[in-house]
Amino acid sequence: MQRVGISIDSRLLAGFDELITRQGYSNRSEAFRDIIRQKLSDEELQNPQSTAVAAVIIVYDHHQADLAKKLTGIQHSNVVNTISSMHVHLDLHNCLEVILLRGKVGNIQKLADNIVSLRGVRLGRVNLVASEQAE
Ligand code: NI
Repeated sequence: MQRVGISIDSRLLAGFDELITRQGYSNRSEAFRDIIRQKLSDEELQNPQSTAVAAVIIVYDHHQADLAKKLTGIQHSNVVNTISSMHVHLDLHNCLEVILLRGKVGNIQKLADNIVSLRGVRLGRVNLVASEQAE
């Protein structure tokens, strides 16, 4: 662990303190570390070759023929590893599925796009985290 001193405008610092208090941080150091981690993670996700983990969240039409089969088929990809998936029967018509993936950013994005664009998928969201920054 290293100590660093930084110069910062007092108004900017006041805004920062207000923000991190609202978010529940008990000190600036922890907030700075998290912000830096987030920034490094975001930067890394710009590179399609870097490794990441991702959560793909979809809501889909339970009655769409063949969709479940197609979803499973896509998850048996040989370039992206499906770590896990969870299925919830939301109501008579809708299913929620959360699919956790690990692989190269570019491949994850491609696979996630394939999933979200399947006919019958009503809502889709993909969240990536650079896996080197996840520790
Ligand atoms: Ni279901």
